[in-house]
Amino acid sequence: MQTVRNLDVLRTSVAALREDGASIGLVPTMGALHEGHLTLVRRAREVCDHVVASIFVNPTQFGPNEDLDAYPRTFDADAALLDAEGCALLWAPDVATMYPDRFATSISVSGVSEGLCGASRPGHFDGVATVVAKLFNQVRPTQAFFGEKDYQQLAVIRTMARDLDLTHPNPDAIIGVPTVREADRLAMSSRNRYLSPADREAAATLPRAMREAIARIEDGQEVAPTLAMLEDELLGAGFGEVDYVVLADAGSLAPLDALSNGAARLLVAARIGGTRLIDNMAIAR
Ligand code: PAF
Repeated sequence: MQTVRNLDVLRTSVAALREDGASIGLVPTMGALHEGHLTLVRRAREVCDHVVASIFVNPTQFGPNEDLDAYPRTFDADAALLDAEGCALLWAPDVATMYPDRFATSISVSGVSEGLCGASRPGHFDGVATVVAKLFNQVRPTQAFFGEKDYQQLAVIRTMARDLDLTHPNPDAIIGVPTVREADRLAMSSRNRYLSPADREAAATLPRAMREAIARIEDGQEVAPTLAMLEDELLGAGFGEVDYVVLADAGSLAPLDALSNGAARLLVAARIGGTRLIDNMAIAR
């Protein structure tokens, strides 16, 4: 695997990989890789000739009181994992390469970015959209792979890619990969490593309580009291703050107070021991 830190070298190396029409799969990450990321790489390898992964802890998607400085940085271990998974190239730019002096552009996707995490993390999705648009322009992938764990992020990126023709002419170039979970069903996340052993144990309440709420809703029970019960269960298990518990249309992310004809998703964000966890699951009609 070639590790590249310079944009000109990236362009030349990706052009060489693309020779003879080979396809390029892009897996953007912020490092601190776990099985969820490696699943993205494996999926990309299945459908593309070459995989380019990126590691860049993007400062513009962190708010002033968020964990940018404390965000885990495990570059050497990450590079070894990507190499072992058969990545062809690791793109690892520094902040000055991504955001040179007088950088003044921001991409803002309205609608899908506004509720849920967008409401409690102002500017977060502008930062994500801007950096992902840059990565697309830098690598020009055939397809790009993102985890469904960050379901709203995936919706924002799909909307941006379509609106800005970033993956034209392939409307299906953004691939969402199902969430990878620990044995107790907690969604894998780089932030799980912040949890104390007691909080880690309590955190497993999140996927369990979500599945119970989904079973009730699928069974025909009313949505609002079921979501309130889920929130109470999280607070009772040791979560300090529940940011949102929302049933939403799976495409537009508009909140629903009952199941409708379209696909629906249950989305939750909650804090335990200072760590903010998010999860989402599909609901059958
Ligand atoms: O999901 C992430 O790790 C980041 O938000 C992404 C997509 C790499 C953009 O910085």
